[in-house]
Amino acid sequence: MGKAVVFGSFVVDLMARSPHLPIAGETVKGSMFKMGPGGKGFNQGVAAHKAGADVVMVTKLGKDTFADQALNTMDALGMPKDHLFFTEDAETGIALILVDENTSQNEIIIVPGACNTITEADTDKLEPLLKEAEYVLLQLEVNQDANERVVGLANKYGCRVIVNTAPYSEITDEFLSKVYMVTPNEVEAEEMTGVHVDGLESAKEAAAHFRKKGVKDVVITLGSRGAFVSSEGREEIIPPFKVDAVDTTGAGDAFNGGLLAALAEGKDLWKAAEFASALAALSVQKLGTTPSMPEREEIEQFLKEQEEEKC
Ligand code: RIB
Ligand code: NA
Repeated sequence: MGKAVVFGSFVVDLMARSPHLPIAGETVKGSMFKMGPGGKGFNQGVAAHKAGADVVMVTKLGKDTFADQALNTMDALGMPKDHLFFTEDAETGIALILVDENTSQNEIIIVPGACNTITEADTDKLEPLLKEAEYVLLQLEVNQDANERVVGLANKYGCRVIVNTAPYSEITDEFLSKVYMVTPNEVEAEEMTGVHVDGLESAKEAAAHFRKKGVKDVVITLGSRGAFVSSEGREEIIPPFKVDAVDTTGAGDAFNGGLLAALAEGKDLWKAAEFASALAALSVQKLGTTPSMPEREEIEQFLKEQEEEKC
């Protein structure tokens, strides 16, 4: 099993559920509040770890009580904490997540805080780690210059870079040219390629845009329509697993963490995407982000049941 690294954000998710999402100027009385670990990077790192990957989580925390949410979670899960950075100059990040309890749609404001202040001195320390690792998974939630340095180091040592292009923000062609795989959702894919992705043909078109920039493999998550996978001349939509969602926040992170775990243990991209879809399907059935990531056993069991249903 290859070593995997997740480099990205940690924030504390402050989640409120209410009968509908407020419009500007409106106050809505909510029905529930939950605080827990989150951030796309951390969600993906935990998802990969629980799915069985030998994964190192790299992020940056403040020196405050919110940081404990990360530290306690990692302790409880037995995740190595030797690649965490700390700063006294910024607070641990937070995300305000509003969830409509009827439609389960959400609205999020993220303030990345400490994980948006990753310095060159920090990323320099990752050289030995990236030298050993087979894959590194990034998102766009930390300061992009840090991502760029990590990609440079990864390239130097032949470590494959996967970029989950969320939340969308502009990235350079030079950055993309160093990336092995991108995993946008359909909205991000459109923002980055100009192609409105609504099915197989348009997804192929978007994938071609990425490939022209030097990206090798492309996975576009299509929400309830599954995931488009494009690799080595084979392009298909992997159908989703049908489940009842209670909270879709972090489903993309479950998918990406699962994808990483599966690739690092040598599954091909098709099998990996199926495995990743199972994580997403399991995560949406539970409230919260990091805490809703499934264990390996649950994933195996779910895949087995789905297989039996097909017969
Ligand atoms: O993808 C879900 C995540 O996005 C949440 O955990 C929240 O922190 C936001 O960054
Ligand atoms: Na969830």
